[in-house]
Amino acid sequence: MPRMAGRTFSLSVNGERVRVSAEPDEPLLWVLRDQLQLTGTKFGCGQGQCGACKVLIDGQPLWSCQVPVESVAGSSEIVTIEGLGQPGNLSPVQAAFARHTAFGCGFCTPSMIVEATALLRDNPRPTRAEIVAAMNGHLCRCAAYPNIIAAIRSVADSDREDEAR
Ligand code: FES
Repeated sequence: MPRMAGRTFSLSVNGERVRVSAEPDEPLLWVLRDQLQLTGTKFGCGQGQCGACKVLIDGQPLWSCQVPVESVAGSSEIVTIEGLGQPGNLSPVQAAFARHTAFGCGFCTPSMIVEATALLRDNPRPTRAEIVAAMNGHLCRCAAYPNIIAAIRSVADSDREDEAR
């Protein structure tokens, strides 16, 4: 349940400048979901444990349930799952997750894709162990882990094939 707004903050979300009203310590997660209707970012535990709420903040995958909105107001660049791609224009990682059915219920999928996107940006050729390590903080209650790993590997492999052409 969102609290009544205290102050106005200017945020950069998915490349757009938006103004929101919130208490300074309100978690970014609730501002994204309740004020900006960016509901791809999920609430799981609220304690930085499940990974369901991750978004990119200045390129780093971070737990939006743990980030006070005040701390990302101004110059921080926030990117949510909606900013990575849209139906009909999926990002390579989104498309790979769809191709490999890398989900069960889909609840954890947005944050998994956010994390995998950051991983592949920083390390385009991750080993299986590096993928597992990067995704370790994300819980998937449907246990779609093998398909998730396969999806991420397929993006790395397709890069390799592109280079060979
Ligand atoms: Fe943020 Fe679980 S809801 S880590």
